[in-house]
Amino acid sequence: MKVAPSLLSADFAALGAELAAIEAAGADWAHLDVMDGHFVPNITFGPPVIAKLRPRSKLFFDAHLMIRHPERYIGDFVKAGADLITVHAEACDHLHRVLGQIREAGVKAGVALNPHTPVSVLAHVLDMVDLVLIMTVNPGFGGQRFIDACLPKVRQARAMLAEAGLADRVEIQVDGGVDPHTAPRCVEAGATVLVAGTAVFGKDDYAAAIAALRGQPSA
Ligand code: DX5
Ligand code: ZN
Repeated sequence: MKVAPSLLSADFAALGAELAAIEAAGADWAHLDVMDGHFVPNITFGPPVIAKLRPRSKLFFDAHLMIRHPERYIGDFVKAGADLITVHAEACDHLHRVLGQIREAGVKAGVALNPHTPVSVLAHVLDMVDLVLIMTVNPGFGGQRFIDACLPKVRQARAMLAEAGLADRVEIQVDGGVDPHTAPRCVEAGATVLVAGTAVFGKDDYAAAIAALRGQPSA
């Protein structure tokens, strides 16, 4: 299981140092939350910030685009150094086309589903995705409460991928309210990548926080 700390909860005035700190603390991926103030009621950062962070870290850059019309910016995020680009199914009029665009640009493609969106929307694009992101909060802010009703969707996504013979290749990510209490439930349901903002950056000891998400006692 991979842990992807979300820089949304980091000190934005010290992003480079925060990124280095999670890398040293044992993070697997860096989760980059991009918000446009339209699709979600908050604004964060975009390609120029990611491009400046890129040379500071060897971590896999997992860009979670909470933006409308993501097709306009795929090239910019690839150039900035994203390794995987996740778009929201709800934000794409042409999800199939956008996923093709991301893969043609040479990076991995993910689809995120808001809490109300059924897993069945993935049925006809499954072979085009490298990651399915099951949101366990309504996107926009860190520090929200985990929505239990989203857990069955993790199981459904796992079953759907298994049936398609894709379970070994496609990651299932959960994002929102993931902490040492909810993490094991997500993993049991089939999650392979845990995103955590508050549960990492809200702690003084990032290594202990990441270990706790893995279910390991802190050293
Ligand atoms: C929510 C973002 C998350 C957020 C998670 O809109 O997509 O990645 O940072 O924060 P926590 O872990 O605090 O719920
Ligand atoms: Zn996110």
